[in-house]
Amino acid sequence: MCGIVGYVGIGKVGSVLFDSVKKLEYRGYDSVGIATLSEGKIELRKDNGKIDDVDKKIHLGDVKGNLGIAHVRWATHGRPNKINSHPHTNNDDTIAIVHNGIIENYEELKTNLISKGYIFKSETDSEVIAHLLEKFINDGFDFQDSMIEMVKSLDGSYAIGAIYNNNPDEVLAIKNESPLVVGLSEDGNFIASDVPAFLKHTKKVIFPQDKELIILKKDKVIVKDLNGKILDKNIQTIEWNEKMAQKEGYNHFMLKEINQQPNVVVNTLKAKKDIENIVSNLNDINKIYFVACGTSYHAALTGKYLLEVFTNIKTDVIYSSEFKYFTNTLDENTLTIFVSQSGETADTLSAIKMSKVSRTLAIVNILGSSITREADNVIYTKAGPEIGVAATKTYLSQLVSIYLLVTYLSKNKNNKFYHEMISQIEKVPRYINDLLSDEDKIKEIAHKYKDTKEFFFLGRGFIYPTALEGALKLKEITYIHAEGYPSGELKHGPLALIDENVAVVVLAPNENSKSISNLDSYKDTINNMEEVKSRAAKIILLTSHENGKYNNVDDLFTMDNQVDELISPIVYVVPLQLLSYYISIYKGLDPDKPRNLAKCVTVK
Ligand code: G6P
Repeated sequence: MCGIVGYVGIGKVGSVLFDSVKKLEYRGYDSVGIATLSEGKIELRKDNGKIDDVDKKIHLGDVKGNLGIAHVRWATHGRPNKINSHPHTNNDDTIAIVHNGIIENYEELKTNLISKGYIFKSETDSEVIAHLLEKFINDGFDFQDSMIEMVKSLDGSYAIGAIYNNNPDEVLAIKNESPLVVGLSEDGNFIASDVPAFLKHTKKVIFPQDKELIILKKDKVIVKDLNGKILDKNIQTIEWNEKMAQKEGYNHFMLKEINQQPNVVVNTLKAKKDIENIVSNLNDINKIYFVACGTSYHAALTGKYLLEVFTNIKTDVIYSSEFKYFTNTLDENTLTIFVSQSGETADTLSAIKMSKVSRTLAIVNILGSSITREADNVIYTKAGPEIGVAATKTYLSQLVSIYLLVTYLSKNKNNKFYHEMISQIEKVPRYINDLLSDEDKIKEIAHKYKDTKEFFFLGRGFIYPTALEGALKLKEITYIHAEGYPSGELKHGPLALIDENVAVVVLAPNENSKSISNLDSYKDTINNMEEVKSRAAKIILLTSHENGKYNNVDDLFTMDNQVDELISPIVYVVPLQLLSYYISIYKGLDPDKPRNLAKCVTVK
């Protein structure tokens, strides 16, 4: 979704804002703009295009002033063009605003404002904010009270930053169901959609609640409620550092984040005790719903397989956007688990608000995010900031958290599982390090298949959600059509699509007769592979089986034979991430910024 920033301080405002908004480019890269207050006037520079391209044309960082706001856009209302870019201004350019979210009643507000003589320039919903602020100022309210009156008229989700030329020392901001965090530094104060925007300056943050007015001044930040009462806000310290939000020598954030995964697993495992504590209060749970979107949905689906096999708790997984059709069976013995990297996804946030009759648990990466504030309990996945739009390391951290959760939920019921599970997860960093060192093999396969138009990803049982995730990664960053299927299901229809032009990636983890997860999927998967091979498809087999039946495959990627079915979802996804990454590179695309997508989707 869009990203917003605001800054008041002693730094060079143009370059501080430019640098900060660039850190939010993962939230939107259709357009970018900055507005500052300079010698009593609003100075505005904006255009459509990626930040660096726009900067080459209009030198965003050179804008002068003592305070300002900035925006990166992921278009919702109105095409990406210069006029629709933020910041938006009122008619005489005395007020400038940036907005992330959707103003649901903008048409009604716009009609009303037009009837009063306000002239609209853009097709956006956001522009009403600038005109509404002017209207309330014209009605006699000061700038702060105009913000308060203005939000009383808005329906929808928003994080808004605003400046006004008659208010030369303050940036005002307010949020409702869209992310916004305040950063407090020696050199000045910030508002931003996400912490990486100001990590270079400070780790001290305030997480404002919905509909609290934030008054950003050079040397202090005041937070008020809608009645004007000053609130005492808790200042927290973020564990992240500036380096974590940089590429650190990698060509792309995605590659850096893939390579960080062994350490991420180690870090996520540190939450063991917290998870054990949470589970100790869940003895009376008899049903679990996972609720999630995108990649997080695939982590949740893996959780369903684990819970169904290793506990007696009935589990279902529901897309967040579909959740409202499934609320009738929630009760106090239901645990509803919300999995979200960002903790801000609008569909997931609205689902958690509908599930208060059940017990709620959020599995989230971002501290203080909206979903964490709604949940009874939170497991933080501790993956560090993820900047690449396609989720990689946060997926792995979600999986590890879910494995731990299942482990503790099954502890009393299935002690063998508990011990085997913990010892297996602890070996995962080594398995991943080994296969990362075999990256050249994946590059070779990626190069060979870069022009293939259609892919299927097959897996059975625990590894089936990984097949879905492999297909999603490929779609997201290479724009190649890809489907994930349970290996056994392909013959019930999609087999009709298979011919020599289709590549089929088969995930066939080792069976381990000593493992409690010995579901013996390997042989069945290989039989399904033969079915597609005999229809002339190109086969890429990923396996950890030492005596695999390899003669019929076009390309083979092998992993440590200790990676058995049980643990395979946390390991097999890594070569799939690399495969997508390198196909994207060989196609000349930017894997960090896939077209039409945004990392954090704060609209329904
Ligand atoms: C967007 C992102 C996906 C992500 C999904 C859910 O679509 O592009 O990568 O999986 O949102 O995001 P969440 O933050 O809730 O995990």
